[in-house]
Amino acid sequence: MAITKVPFNSVYGSGEIEESYVSITMPGAPADAKRICRFIHISDLHIATFRPEDPEEEKKTAIDNTKFWTQFKFFVTQDGEGKKKTLTPLESTEVIAERIRALSPDAVFLTGDTVDFPSVTNFMKAKEFMDALNSKCFMAPGNHDRIENGADQALADAFTLAVGTNADFAVDTVFGIDIVRIDDGLGTVTREQVEKLRLQLERGRPTIVLLHAPVMTESVVAPAMGMWGDDLSKWVIGFNKENKENVEFLELLNSNRDHVLSVFAGHVHLITGGGEGKDSGEGFSPDEVLQYTANPTFMGFLRVIDILG
Ligand SMILES: [Fe+2]
Repeated sequence: MAITKVPFNSVYGSGEIEESYVSITMPGAPADAKRICRFIHISDLHIATFRPEDPEEEKKTAIDNTKFWTQFKFFVTQDGEGKKKTLTPLESTEVIAERIRALSPDAVFLTGDTVDFPSVTNFMKAKEFMDALNSKCFMAPGNHDRIENGADQALADAFTLAVGTNADFAVDTVFGIDIVRIDDGLGTVTREQVEKLRLQLERGRPTIVLLHAPVMTESVVAPAMGMWGDDLSKWVIGFNKENKENVEFLELLNSNRDHVLSVFAGHVHLITGGGEGKDSGEGFSPDEVLQYTANPTFMGFLRVIDILG
């Protein structure tokens, strides 16, 4: 589960993308299993932009929030004279998109917070980004990717274009693997989602689960506490046994770990699951579902997932 630094050149200068490489073997695969497909996992793009005709308030939010995310100097490039620049979330997505096209995956997983705040422009930009990947995209929406009931029609239409109409729970099959997307962006799942997951897992099919908020596994707890403090109830599903649904959801994933190839999630803005966080106390329990979380794209991160079978 290596992390490699991949150099790039762009209109914003040169830099390095951090790539996590994961290979997962299908249940029952032969000893000399070969790659049958490749996926990319990205998360938390936090796209924040505006057009000149947008309302002043939206323009201000886009500018302020872009400043907020860039102040940490996460993803830095350098020009020919050595001058440094921190990429904005939007610029980061352009660089990451270029790399994804070069990797030519069979599908891209987006695990939420694709936009930073709901606006027609942000959702349209998210859609444009996905369309430019030349690959199927599957998105589990995050807490930032939502609109209020009664939102105006233009916003509702843009949301649907970017996020889709069945964001709550959806299953698609790619290369014989069921990709399940679940909207747990508000830190909880519903009874309906639990029952749909139960039915899906009873089928015994190889399944990948995409979430925004990760479920409570040993691999995520120590790193997430280091970042967000000891109370992870807003960050991790099942951390506090918040409600019956979250607990059942977690148990379902753990008890079906033989055919749940992995859970991929975002939200915590951290790379976990591949042993990368060992220094911060990341542990692994053999009783828990395999789960990986991702750094945001504005930190210059993506994950390559090869499925062997
Ligand atoms: Fe986020």
